[in-house]
Amino acid sequence: DVMKELLGLRNLEEQVEYKLGVKKVLVVAGNSDEDHWVKHELGRASVAELKAKREPSDVIAVMGGTTLAAVAEMMTPDAGMRDVTFVPARGGLGENVENQANTISAELATRAGAQYRLLHVPDQLSEEAYSSLVLEPSIGDILKLIKSARVVIHGIGEANTMASRRGSKSTFIEKIEREQAVAEAFGYYFNREGDIIHKQRTIGLQLDELDNKYVISVAGGESKAEAISAYMKYRPSDVLITDESAARRLLEIE
Ligand code: F6P
Repeated sequence: DVMKELLGLRNLEEQVEYKLGVKKVLVVAGNSDEDHWVKHELGRASVAELKAKREPSDVIAVMGGTTLAAVAEMMTPDAGMRDVTFVPARGGLGENVENQANTISAELATRAGAQYRLLHVPDQLSEEAYSSLVLEPSIGDILKLIKSARVVIHGIGEANTMASRRGSKSTFIEKIEREQAVAEAFGYYFNREGDIIHKQRTIGLQLDELDNKYVISVAGGESKAEAISAYMKYRPSDVLITDESAARRLLEIE
C-alpha cells in the first residue's frame, strides 16, 4: 500500500506488531478520540479483513460497541458471504440498542447479503436464570452456533468508561478502581498485566473458548492505548486494527 508507506504507517504497524506480539497490526491515519470519521476508517479496514478471511459457510461472531457499529456501517454487499452467518459473540452487556452485538451482527449480515441469528437474553442474569437459560433448546442451538464461530471480531474499551457506560453500581466501580482495571473486552475487565479482574455473567463465547478462532480486535484512539496493551497481554489477537494515535501511544507504554 503506497499511501501507507508515504505516511510511515507501515513502519508503525511493524513496531506495534513487535511490541505487542501480535502477528498482524493494521494502522489507519488519525485519532478516533477526536474525529468520528476515523472509526469509519477502522471500519473500512475491518470489512476488508473480514472479506479476505471469510470462507463460504463461516460463522462470524461479533461484539458490540460504537467501533463495531462503525464497522457494520462500512459493510458492502459480498456474494461470497451469502452462506456466512453472523452471530453476537455474547449476550447483553448493557449497551444501547444500536451498540448491541445483536444489532451489529444483523446490520453486518443485511449489508453484506449474509445470514444472521439473534441471541435473546437479558443483560442482568442471576445464577439460576443463567443455568436454566442455557438449557432452553432454542438458546442451546444458537449457543452451539456461536461457539462454532471460526472468526471473531470485537472491540476493546477502557475499564472505567465501560463500567460507567453500562450504569454499573458504585460498589463495582470502586472494585475495578481498587483492583486497577484498565481494559474491558467481551464483558471481562483486565488490569495492566492482562489479568482478569472481573467477568460479567452472560451467555455466549467465554474468553477461554477463543482457541483456534481467528480473532480480530478493533480499537482506536489515544485514550485506548493502555486498554489495548493490557488486553493483548492477556491474549494477543490474530489481527489488531487500530489508529495512528493509539499506535504511537502504545509504543510509549512500558
Ligand atoms: O460492550 C461491548 C464492547 O464490545 C466492550 O466489550 C468494549 O469494551 C466496548 O464495547 C467498546 O466500545 P467502543 O467501541 O464504543 O469503545
